[in-house]
Amino acid sequence: MSEYLPGLAGVPATKSNISSIDGEKGILAYRGYDIQELAEKSNFEETALLLLDGELPDSAALEDFDQQLRGERKIKYHVREIMRNLPATGHPMEMLQTAISSLGMFYGNAGILTESYGSEDLYYVHNMSVKIIARMATIVAAWEHVRNGYDPIEPRPDMTHAENFMYMLTGVEPDPLTVRIMDACLIMHAEHTINASTFAAMVCASTLAGPFRVISAAIGTLAGPLHGGANQRVVEMLDEIGRPENVKDWLDMKLEEKEVIWGMGHREYKTKDPRAIILQKMVMEWADKKGNLSPMFETALALEEACETILGSKGVYPNVDYYSGILYSEMGIPTDQFTPIFAVSRIAGWMAHWREQLSDNRIFRPTQIYTGHPPRDYVPIEQRS
Ligand code: COA
Repeated sequence: MSEYLPGLAGVPATKSNISSIDGEKGILAYRGYDIQELAEKSNFEETALLLLDGELPDSAALEDFDQQLRGERKIKYHVREIMRNLPATGHPMEMLQTAISSLGMFYGNAGILTESYGSEDLYYVHNMSVKIIARMATIVAAWEHVRNGYDPIEPRPDMTHAENFMYMLTGVEPDPLTVRIMDACLIMHAEHTINASTFAAMVCASTLAGPFRVISAAIGTLAGPLHGGANQRVVEMLDEIGRPENVKDWLDMKLEEKEVIWGMGHREYKTKDPRAIILQKMVMEWADKKGNLSPMFETALALEEACETILGSKGVYPNVDYYSGILYSEMGIPTDQFTPIFAVSRIAGWMAHWREQLSDNRIFRPTQIYTGHPPRDYVPIEQRS
């Protein structure tokens, strides 16, 4: 009998050359490039192309890709109408899954991908990747206005991806610090090996389902609080704790009740997530420039310190979601939009894995260890007690 490993922990599900994690040293690299260097020196457009194509582009290729993205930002009137018909009180991740899935009705899914995966497919995959990466940002930003009863802000083709996203989200031209921080956040969340949502995308892709179905599967998976949904929970948790002096009693109570501490722990990292280190610095940079340190951040620092003494021995440290929510909060972004913003970024990694999966596809079909009843005879309903 094959060994069963719950959660497939440590089980390789694929071969991939897109990203790598060294969980002991706390290193994340995209195509060999360290995340810290990318967050400092790259931009989302370049990082997305690196993930898709495998190499840092030259300036002509980057310019071309950037122009393609700018040209694909608008969403159809009918998609906006679908969004308008959704309840404003629903979670934005439900909206996002619905809206992305609805694009499949307009751009078609069936019969385009072939099992042999030729150059025609590669062309299609690239075009769809551009279309979805560009539109994901527009849809998330548009929802902020639609759910408040307003018309969405039209995308601006003269702005970068991060700049335009913040502009569409807030209706205000963002300042350079806001753009740089959002750009770095989009870079840092863009890819993370075979995480749950990427795996969901790969499973769906392995059936040769089209891209809108693939991404819709990934969005649904990202929404869960054990995955991308954790960034929203972190801020709600810090609000509940209130002040640094409340941390100790609150933590003792939660651990006693065997509850998880949101934004802490990771299957792959046994040290602090390198992205958490960068995000923490960004919160401080933001506070510096804006002239105030938020009480929420002080509570987060106190909680991290308290957790380290208790959970450090289990290798449980802050993950990417621990400080990202605080940063977004400080930037005035509504809490329930944190996970959709994660998707605005992770779409680059999902599309890269979609492409990689198709290039050497075999349908995912694992086995199971049956724990049910042995064979037995059917009992007519009148004879059942
Ligand atoms: N709070 C408290 N204890 C935690 C913890 C957390 N956030 N994360 C892990 N642990 C503990 C577990 O209880 C377990 O303890 P035990 O050995 O005494 O039973 C040990 O650390 C190992 O954790 P495990 O549940 O095996 O880790 P996993 O790899 O299955 O799960 C996560 C990983 C991310 C799902 C888990 O750490 C978690 O739930 N974190 C909070 C949610 C979150 O922030 N998710 C975003 C991830 S980027």
